[in-house]
Amino acid sequence: MRRKRLAVLTGAGVSAESGLGTFRDSGGLWENYRVEDVASAEGWIRNPGLMLEFYNTRRRQLADVRPNAAHLAIAGLEKDFDVTVITQNVDNLHERAGSTRIIHLHGELTKVRPENCCNESDGFSEASVFDIGYGDINLGDKAPNGAQLRPHIVWFGEAVPKIEAAMDAVEKADVMLIVGTSLQVYPAAGLFRYAGIDVPIYVIDPKEVPVSDPRITHIKDVATSGMEKFVLMAAKNFE
Ligand code: APR
Repeated sequence: MRRKRLAVLTGAGVSAESGLGTFRDSGGLWENYRVEDVASAEGWIRNPGLMLEFYNTRRRQLADVRPNAAHLAIAGLEKDFDVTVITQNVDNLHERAGSTRIIHLHGELTKVRPENCCNESDGFSEASVFDIGYGDINLGDKAPNGAQLRPHIVWFGEAVPKIEAAMDAVEKADVMLIVGTSLQVYPAAGLFRYAGIDVPIYVIDPKEVPVSDPRITHIKDVATSGMEKFVLMAAKNFE
């Protein structure tokens, strides 16, 4: 008998206990930066240097943090489930925890690309994307094709090319788990609506869930202890 398919949607809250800030909690990133200045397509045109520094700072910080028990528990679910992680996070903590199938809806902090590639004109090809680890990129750092290097991040105002793959994973899921997202940013926030009518959806978040759906069970807890509860429940109900 095939293993049950589990779609896991994560947001910044799953990395909070690793020491990475979220966006919309008090003290979050969007309290200290204007989104349009540091994470938007027009911001890149207006002041690319400011945007490069914003991502350089976050990339350097990533070198100093580790996956937490929630990332490890999500990776551990691959023992008993066919897991697809769909993350809004640009950190590499799911990879470093051992998850093997990850869809990064909003890009990846350690990756860069020429500013004129991976868009509508080339069908979002990732052929020219490469990983720089935790180093900086600055104005004047050029790709082999001569174009300015930019972070491989989906900015506000840009398409989310991996949303179809994410929708497909959710449509096929037998169980859905949502960890640490405020469900404020589309299209990611609408993904759960693609889960089957009888598919149980578990949401782990210390705050109230901003949507109501009869399929949702809210585990009102932080990611690490919420994942302990989910793993016990999953072992009992879904294997
Ligand atoms: N464990 C679990 N959840 C937590 C924890 C924790 N320790 N701490 C905070 N949270 C929850 C918050 O309650 C909130 O629901 O994580 C969520 C964080 O929400 P946001 O800061 O809005 O982050 P996210 O939902 O990932 O944002 C989505 O917005 O700005 C864009 O591209 C950015 O990918 C990001 C997207």
